[in-house]
Amino acid sequence: MLDYIEYEDFRAEVRAKAGEVVAPYAAAIDADDHIPDEVMKEVAKAGWFGATAPAEYGGLGWDTVRYVIMVEEVSRASGSVGVMLAVQGSLIIFPLLEYGNDAQIKTYLPKLASGELVGSFGLTEPSAGSDAGNTKTAAALDGDEWVINGQKCFITNTKRDWPVVCVVTVRTDPDKSKGARGVSSIIVPADAPGFNYGRKENKMGLRGSDTSEIFFEDCRVPKGNLLGEVNGGFKIFMVALDAGRISIGAMAVGLGQAALELAIKHAETRVQFGKPIGTKQAIQWKIAEMATKVRAARFLVYSAGALKDAGHPYTKEAAMAKYYASQVGREVAYDAVQIHGALGYDKSYPLERIYRDVKLDEIGEGTSEIQKVVISRDILQIKKK
Ligand code: CAA
Repeated sequence: MLDYIEYEDFRAEVRAKAGEVVAPYAAAIDADDHIPDEVMKEVAKAGWFGATAPAEYGGLGWDTVRYVIMVEEVSRASGSVGVMLAVQGSLIIFPLLEYGNDAQIKTYLPKLASGELVGSFGLTEPSAGSDAGNTKTAAALDGDEWVINGQKCFITNTKRDWPVVCVVTVRTDPDKSKGARGVSSIIVPADAPGFNYGRKENKMGLRGSDTSEIFFEDCRVPKGNLLGEVNGGFKIFMVALDAGRISIGAMAVGLGQAALELAIKHAETRVQFGKPIGTKQAIQWKIAEMATKVRAARFLVYSAGALKDAGHPYTKEAAMAKYYASQVGREVAYDAVQIHGALGYDKSYPLERIYRDVKLDEIGEGTSEIQKVVISRDILQIKKK
């Protein structure tokens, strides 16, 4: 594992594929706020929707390190496609495999792995952001069905022109004092009666990745759609987020890498005062710092993935990877824009898109401030109250 050198051939293959089937569309995905069918089909053909699903369900059966390298390389080509695969693999397929029963796995996993279904993670609500346990959406049993009422917002992968399944947190214990211990997880297909999309969120970046409000109005799903135990859903979402934070870190590394490469090329070719600007120490130092930070962030991400693959605890390391990589991604994109001057600010060049896209990584799947709460709680071993 010394330098993850054994993954470099694998990376080269994924990079070449992403360069062929994703990168040429990246600007249009951003401008049109939409991932077109041809990209969805090519991503499906590459097997990336089901990268971590076992082969018997149509997946590629990759370990976490390979999976995050794929998310990194796809994000290097397009952040919008990268985040879609990060959510699919980490927040949906992973908890389904961990907590799903046979019937749930057989019903949903093959379609998620093939890309026939896109998975979304319905946690956030208007009053449950960082305080994710403050779920107000409620579910109650009526015979053999759960009846769900409430509202979610900022839900990624709510692709309106594609079949979607959403795993949602719902309050199943009306006693509010139970907090996160009164929350369950339920699998809700977007075509269930009473499932309605609200506003498509108008985001700064990742414009091609659909993010929406969802309203549940007497939404009915079979009793068997409960994922895990009644009132055990918050923990499932926390476990999923541990995995998700590694892939959000990978996304930030991919976007940071893309910005770094553009900055290097510009430093080598842009001539001012009679010489390439890369001959100036002001630029050399920036490039050195950017490259060092991207490399350090990459290793944090891979080592969290390797811990997960080895079956060790990785909550803290996943939070560290996301916290550090997303900060690095944002700083590197900022420096790359600065090195480009006005060209970095121009919408006809890819940098301003990268700059907007990478900001999400410091917010989605828990803000940087929440990552520091998670890291310090683990280090200090102090119970909350
Ligand atoms: N693994 C397993 N269990 C966990 C856990 C973990 N990582 N973290 C917490 N738990 C368990 C606790 O052990 C506790 O269990 P018991 O009831 O058995 O004691 C239970 O969950 C409640 O834990 P806490 O008391 O620690 O919960 P809290 O209310 O203090 O919140 C928090 C903890 C870390 C702040 C959490 O709320 C959090 O992560 N907030 C951020 C939310 C977030 O990341 N949102 C992202 C939205 S989804 C998204 O962005 C996806 C997308 O669309 C791109």
